[in-house]
Amino acid sequence: MTQTPLNPGDSPLVREALSSVVSRETSATQTAAQPGETSGDGDGTWPRPSETRVIAVANQKGGVGKTTTSVNIAAALSMHGQRVLVVDLDPQGNASTALATEHRGDVPDVYQVLVDDLPMADIVKQVPEMPNLYCAPATIDLAGAEIELVSLVAREARLRRALAAYEAMELDYIIIDCPPSLGLLTVNALVAADEVMIPIQCEYYALEGLGQLLRNVDLIKAHLNPTLRLSTIVLTMYDGRTRLASQVADEVRAHFGDTVLSTVIPRSVRLSEAPSYGQSVMTYDPGSSGAMAYMDAAREIAHRATVA
Ligand SMILES: Nc1ncnc2c1ncn2[C@@H]1O[C@H](COP(=O)(O)OP(=O)(O)OP(=O)(O)O)[C@@H](O)[C@H]1O
Ligand SMILES: [Mg+2]
Repeated sequence: MTQTPLNPGDSPLVREALSSVVSRETSATQTAAQPGETSGDGDGTWPRPSETRVIAVANQKGGVGKTTTSVNIAAALSMHGQRVLVVDLDPQGNASTALATEHRGDVPDVYQVLVDDLPMADIVKQVPEMPNLYCAPATIDLAGAEIELVSLVAREARLRRALAAYEAMELDYIIIDCPPSLGLLTVNALVAADEVMIPIQCEYYALEGLGQLLRNVDLIKAHLNPTLRLSTIVLTMYDGRTRLASQVADEVRAHFGDTVLSTVIPRSVRLSEAPSYGQSVMTYDPGSSGAMAYMDAAREIAHRATVA
């Protein structure tokens, strides 16, 4: 893991706090996972869930941080001994790009799994330099899936079926990065998942459209996937300098209570730069405020596993 300098934009206090985190996180990544280990203390290996947790990261609003959240939470978990698969369910392929997983040309991808019944094992790739992290890439072909799925048998449950048949390795987490729509791809994610995680951007229109997403979750729970639950809301792109951001955060917390992670993800240039280097921010700049926040968010998620 490369250790990059602290962000010059960080305040002295933040830099102080971050430098201790960098060394802690760096040593933590060197701790290998022990199967069945559940203590998770000392922050080396976090508790592993007793069964694979399948988490759909969804919000039909575009650009709210779904992909950034999926990739960085996945990377953070993998660095603490969890075996994690990211399923890129967005034809834009942003998660595949961020995880340096080839997704252009004839690369077998999620489209072929959903539409042509290709086994998941045939498309999953290990993420370079991230031993516990895997990616099921999406190519632009996936754009056709919304329409092609319509005429297929069990069109809502194709991903669920593919993941159920995929027992090549003992995964602790499957994180599904959804596209910005409520079409059949997102429905497939919600049918395959146990949990929904909704990133909410701390801005004025944050809650617009959320009702529709929640109604869809309820419908899928009622008809297709009774165990689905909204487990996590994560506040993203928080700008501490604006009153609006804190008002939105307060409003979301008032509505959703403990479902909202205590950790808030700040605006951080490093988060937006990392994908162009084919990295999560966890390796691109582990000392940045964005990396630190996603590490904390992932820690909260991992520890919630033992409560449920
Ligand atoms: N906390 C943050 N600070 C700064 N930039 C961020 C942050 N989170 C995300 N971004 C940037 O904002 C843009 C949108 O983020 P992202 O791609 O994660 O959203 P998304 O919900 O997946 O978008 P889409 O709906 O298109 O799939 C990206 O350019 C990303 O790098
Ligand atoms: Mg995205």
